[in-house]
Amino acid sequence: MSPSLLAISYFFHLIATVLWLGGLALLVLMVWPEARRALSESPALYAFLNRLRKRFYPLTNFSLFVLVLTGLFQMPADPNYMGVFDFSNDWSRLILLKHIAIIGMVICGLAVQYGVVPALERTSLLVERGKGDPADYERLRRREVRLTWANVALAALVLAFTAWATAI
Ligand code: HEM
Repeated sequence: MSPSLLAISYFFHLIATVLWLGGLALLVLMVWPEARRALSESPALYAFLNRLRKRFYPLTNFSLFVLVLTGLFQMPADPNYMGVFDFSNDWSRLILLKHIAIIGMVICGLAVQYGVVPALERTSLLVERGKGDPADYERLRRREVRLTWANVALAALVLAFTAWATAI
């Protein structure tokens, strides 16, 4: 495998990691708490969070696509790679654990994007028009925050398994 092609693959693998995992961490550790403090429970907060979702979630989906593409390219290039479904060494077992954590991230992401966000946006519009129950919005928001924190924990596991695999 040409080292320059591998370097380009790692470059995009790392960029996609920074965008997705860095974005998740920034969201839960800074953006959401500060937006809530600055805008409290107001239509401005609902509008800001809706706009943020519309920009962030497509970026995470694209990052996942880039990570899978470059990851599939990088795997056979590693001397520890033994073949598809061959987990006979520590490296391949760690990459398997990494993939299981990634599947968890995808499930959480899909649950947020297709399970929670449509209902959140509908409820925020109803609440803005004085027709919806703010408690419904609050319940959905808590679910979005819980699922996103679960994604941050799984992301930390992905990086831990990767660091361990890279050290082998
Ligand atoms: C959330 C998704 C993922 C994240 C955050 C992630 C992150 C990373 C990071 C940070 C590295 C280290 C790169 C370096 O050493 O310079 C890496 C390496 C690697 N990744 Fe991923 N990755 C993800 C998905 C995938 C997928 C889906 C695959 C395979 C299909 C994959 C296969 C690999 C391989 C083979 C390496 C090289 C490991 C080694 O050097 O021993 N990754 N990944």
